[in-house]
Amino acid sequence: MRKVVKKLVNRKRSPFFTLRPLFAKSIMRRFVADKAKTLINRSRTTCSSSFPPPIITSTSVLQRLTSSSSSSSQSTAVLRFLSTSSDSMASDYSSTPVTLNNVNPKVLKCEYAVRGEIVNLAQKLQQDLKENPGSHPFDEILYCNIGNPQSLAQQPITFFREVLALCDHPLILDKSETQGLFSADSIERAFQILDQIPGRATGAYSHSQGIKGLRDTIASGIEARDGFPADPNDIFLTDGASPAVHMMMQLLIGSENDGILCPIPQYPLYSASIALHGGTLVPYYLDEETGWGLEVSELENQLKTAKSKGINVRALAVINPGNPTGQVLAEANQREIVEFCKKEGLVLLADEVYQENVYVPEKQFHSFKKVARSMGFGEKDISLVSFQSVSKGFYGECGKRGGYMEVTGFSPEIREQIYKVASVNLCSNISGQILASLVMSPPKVGDESYESFAAEKEGILSSLARRAKTLEDAFSNLEGVTCNKAEGAMYLFPRINLPDKAIKAAEEAKIAPDAFYARHLLNATGIVVVPGSGFGQRPGTWHFRCTILPQEEKIPAIVSRLTEFHKLFMDEFRG
Ligand SMILES: Cc1ncc(COP(=O)(O)O)c(C=O)c1O
Repeated sequence: MRKVVKKLVNRKRSPFFTLRPLFAKSIMRRFVADKAKTLINRSRTTCSSSFPPPIITSTSVLQRLTSSSSSSSQSTAVLRFLSTSSDSMASDYSSTPVTLNNVNPKVLKCEYAVRGEIVNLAQKLQQDLKENPGSHPFDEILYCNIGNPQSLAQQPITFFREVLALCDHPLILDKSETQGLFSADSIERAFQILDQIPGRATGAYSHSQGIKGLRDTIASGIEARDGFPADPNDIFLTDGASPAVHMMMQLLIGSENDGILCPIPQYPLYSASIALHGGTLVPYYLDEETGWGLEVSELENQLKTAKSKGINVRALAVINPGNPTGQVLAEANQREIVEFCKKEGLVLLADEVYQENVYVPEKQFHSFKKVARSMGFGEKDISLVSFQSVSKGFYGECGKRGGYMEVTGFSPEIREQIYKVASVNLCSNISGQILASLVMSPPKVGDESYESFAAEKEGILSSLARRAKTLEDAFSNLEGVTCNKAEGAMYLFPRINLPDKAIKAAEEAKIAPDAFYARHLLNATGIVVVPGSGFGQRPGTWHFRCTILPQEEKIPAIVSRLTEFHKLFMDEFRG
């Protein structure tokens, strides 16, 4: 061990090690400078020619977009992008072939608030703080905008990382030191996994659905979770749940006449994916008064309305536990939803990425497949796709990009089409595939890692539950704010009754009132939340989404900063 550390230290000190990045940097700089020169020369030549193409500046694009019939969302998207580039930069690109007038309009339409304008502002403030400490009334940015646990210091689960490390560097499996550094069950699991990979090559493409042995493990994990059989051939391993959702949208949406029923508020992956694929989002509102309940009567009404407009509704998307709303569906409610899909011939798209994140004893996660099977609906009775991810739960391995979808109730011909779509991407990354199998088959009682694994899992989940409760109580105590119970997932979605004066000020600033609040909050405290308008909400209501992920010891400071800010904000705008 000591030898390895020494080797690393020496390697760090070696001139080669330090020179390499510098060398790369200078090559990069030269490349960028050359590229810039070429571009400037090219634009000079084009501009001085006798028949110049129109130079598109950000102002002229904006004028065109705002004066034409383009939607306001289009102009916001443009504004957001242009806010990062100056007029002169935009004109440097006047001779490039892709412009805002000819780029795919579906891309312009697509929005993704969790990484939107407020986050751009936060990054700018962070840079300010770095370059000019003390330039703002806070000394750090607290990112409460996105469910990215390890970016907020959550530690990875040791067993998972040990297996991954061993699979990625199998040569060390035969070294005697390995026995002392890694648990016996992680070594054994790495051997098992490598035996399932042709040629033990983790750097090779795999089967487009994912490595068969890993799919076997996942299917066994699903069976153990649900008590109903699962078929490895139904599993498609993916780079996280997002590409799986895109894949299903690609399969279901042929034109804007194809509709997908989506919850409002929703995680914007759905609205973005539907927009990119050119379909129609058919909204169904969750009922805030009943803890963001999902009423089947609302589904029926919205389906009827959509049909009357000629929309062919293909699927119902349900997020359980909910994002951004944090509710966990009751089993009886899930049965009604399954019944509804069966009756209406809809594909049920069950986003179950937060299945491990349930914080209240009175609620439990039930997969939709288990619910459907327990109602007696078999493979041929209902089309159901369940999405799972390594990004959430207690593992939080967002950057590893692993996940799967379990696709049931589709004919062999359609499954072939899904396979074809999957194979266009060749395969998902192998580390993500391995992680997905580990998440669905963690250490068991009696395994060497079991106790430390169980302690890590319990430590993370119980801390998340405490953080959720503290934030929920804090939000509920603010003037004019009501907050849902944090039953599951990683978010709270408090509702703010903003004073008229604040709403007017937001209108004048040409932003949504909740974005106005979020921007003020960020500028005053460094706390980043996402305005509710990014998720959709009932007209006239305003919310923001706050993750429960900041480190537990930072939560009291967040609460006091937020409370103080809210009081001052209300004092200023109460009128
Ligand atoms: C409800 C929901 N579904 C899907 C995803 C996508 O996760 P990933 O692509 O990292 O698996 C997220 C991420 O936050 C989410 O909240």
